[in-house]
This record gives sequence, C-alpha cells and structure tokens, in this order.
Amino acid sequence: MNTMDFRKDFALFRSSNAPVYFDNSATTQRPDCVIEAVADFYRNSNANPLRGLYDLALKATEKYEDARKTVASFIGAKNPSQIVFTRNTTESLNLVSESISSAVKIGEGDDIVVTVSEHHSNLLPWQRLAKRTGAKLVFMEPDMTGLISDEEIRSKITERTKLVAAAHVSNVWGRVNPIEKIIKRAHSFGAVAVIDGAQAVAHMKVDVSSLDCDLYAFSGHKMLAPMGIGVLYGKAELLERMEPFMLGGEMIEYVTREDATYAEVPHKFEAGTVNAGGAAGLARACAYISDTGFDFIRTQETELTSYLIGKMNSIRGIELYGSKDPDEHNGIISFNIKDCHPHDVASILNEDGICVRAGHHCAQPLMQFMGIGSCVRASVYAYNTLEEADRFVKCLKNVRKVLGY
Ligand code: ALA
Repeated sequence: MNTMDFRKDFALFRSSNAPVYFDNSATTQRPDCVIEAVADFYRNSNANPLRGLYDLALKATEKYEDARKTVASFIGAKNPSQIVFTRNTTESLNLVSESISSAVKIGEGDDIVVTVSEHHSNLLPWQRLAKRTGAKLVFMEPDMTGLISDEEIRSKITERTKLVAAAHVSNVWGRVNPIEKIIKRAHSFGAVAVIDGAQAVAHMKVDVSSLDCDLYAFSGHKMLAPMGIGVLYGKAELLERMEPFMLGGEMIEYVTREDATYAEVPHKFEAGTVNAGGAAGLARACAYISDTGFDFIRTQETELTSYLIGKMNSIRGIELYGSKDPDEHNGIISFNIKDCHPHDVASILNEDGICVRAGHHCAQPLMQFMGIGSCVRASVYAYNTLEEADRFVKCLKNVRKVLGY
C-alpha cells in the first residue's frame, strides 16, 4: 500500500483542485466502498430491520446484525451483543450517563473522575450526573504536554470514586492517555471506567477486551464511515444492569397498559428504527481499515506529523501545543500564531484551499487550563501527503504578513 493508491479510493482527492483536508479529527472522508455499502443497503436490502417477517426485512436484519459482528471483531469485543449502535460518541456517552444509575449507585460523598482535557461530550453528561446525584466531579490534570502522571491518577482516583471517564486520545493535544493505568486504578476501587475512543479507533488498534474498560464509545464518521452511526461497547453484565434511556419501538419484550419489560441487550438500547444503512457503512469502514492496516496508517501519520512539526517550528510567532515528540500527537497539531486570531488563521488558510478547525474544539475547560481562548488545529490522516504539508506550511508562513504584521 502507498498513500497515492489509498487516496484514489476517496472522491475528494481524485478531483484536480482537491482542498488540503487537514480536519480529520472533526470528520474523515469516506472511501468509495463505504459509500457503496450504504447505497447497496438501500438499493438491495431496504426494509425496516428487526420487525418484518418477510424475506426482504429478514435480509435487512441480517445486514444490520452482520454489521454488529464486524464491529465487535474490529474492536476485540468478545460478543456482538456487547455492541450497541447509537448516533455517535456523544449519544453513546449520554446513554451511559442517563442509564448508569440503575447499575452503579452514585450519591453524596462519591466522586466522578474525568480529565481536564475532555471534549464537552465526555464532560457535560458527568456534570449533570454529579449535580443530580450529589457526587463530586474531580479532575485529573495533565502537564503542558498533555500527559497525565501516575501521581495524578493515584491521587484523584480513590476509594470515593464510582466512575472514571477519560478520552483514549485527546482531540486537542493528540496525546494518548494512560487509560490502561486509569482503568486498573478505577477497578481497584470497584469503579466503572468509561473511555471516549472517538479520536482513537481510526488510528490505532483498539482491543476493548485487553484494555478491560467497562464502556467504550466512538463515532463512525471519524473512522471513514457515515455520519449518524456510532457505537457503545459495554461489558455484558454491566449492560444487563443498565436501564435503557430511550423507550419506544423494538426495545421491548412485552407491554401492558401500565408497564413494560425490555428486550435483551443490545436491542433494549436501540429504540426506534435503527440506522441500518449507517451500520452497513461502518462495517465496511472497519473492513477497509483492517485491510489497509494500522501499521501503514500509523507510519503515514507519524511521518506527516514529524514533517509538519519540524517545518512549523521554524515559523515566526508560532506556538505548538502538546508534546515535542511527533509520535505523541497521533496526527493532531494544535497551535496559535502570535497576534493572529485562530479564526483569521483558518480563513487565510481557506483562501488557499486548506481546511483546518479553529476555535475551542469543544474543550473549553482545556482552553482555560492552557491559558488560551482558542487555537487552530490541523489533523491529518493516512491519505494526506507531504506535498499537502508543504502547501499548508507555505500558507501558514504568510499569515502574519497577510494580517499586516
Ligand atoms: N469532536 C470533533 C472535533 O474534535 C467534532 O473536532
């Protein structure tokens, strides 16, 4: 596999005036085979899954459940029933925060532990749970390279901890959190460990069984799959004990006027008509990433990140955030240029067809911790090239001049 072969699978990059797409942490592009898998579902298997008893509906159900098997195997889940399909990481994490109280008793005197670097999706649900239950929200703080130390893990996760929620990879620093240590420490006190894997699953081999996390959430659209399909993985006995947070069609066993019993896991968490086309696309994306191989993906991303960081460091007035080691960035480079608002930087880059994200990146407490209001983020994937990196750096060098400095 080489990058140019890989790029050919993406319509955007086949165009003669393709933009430099460096906003992969927000959403990736999708290869033809994923788009085709979604279209194929709607062309050839379209009926409402899990309901109809006629052949076409059974085919739709089979496609949907096959997708669950593929996703389970992609992340090392022991059983497909441990895969709950949701809309995205945000919905997966909200599902947990709304449903966990039936499985884990959380109240006054208890702690819910998060990190300062969390995306709002992995913070706001816990803020609300803490307010509702009277528990205290406790923050593990990284150093300025994004690293959470052993001491921080030891001092913040204690016998009071009932739940720990942490990102696998930060969407601003790009740093991999020491989640194995966090999970182990949480378990030593009988606490539940919830991992936000949104920025991890497309970039590194994730094995939820060997990680031993209790719950793991991620989105399809950040891993070459469609928007609107996401996953919550959970340990079987925990999912059994969690009450569904959305009630309605196809999540029930039996309903009377006054009461209802629920379907088995995972269906009790999938109320309403499911996104079977999205699930088919996600399964295809899993197979495509597996065929491409994480060795290739990782090598490409590290080469690009090293190259970019090397070149960016020589730009006047630039400040790069996070580790000095490109290996610790997982394709994510957040930065500011002195005197230049991040939105101006992003707009100037856009003039040259370069796509980056600027703002607080849904991580305002992290911005406050870093002492900034916002920053620019360039995030690459394995289909990006060194030529694109050069185009980006060339434009970046000009930003201060364009703004009159
Ligand atoms: N969560 C996505 C990001 O970090 C949207 O950009």
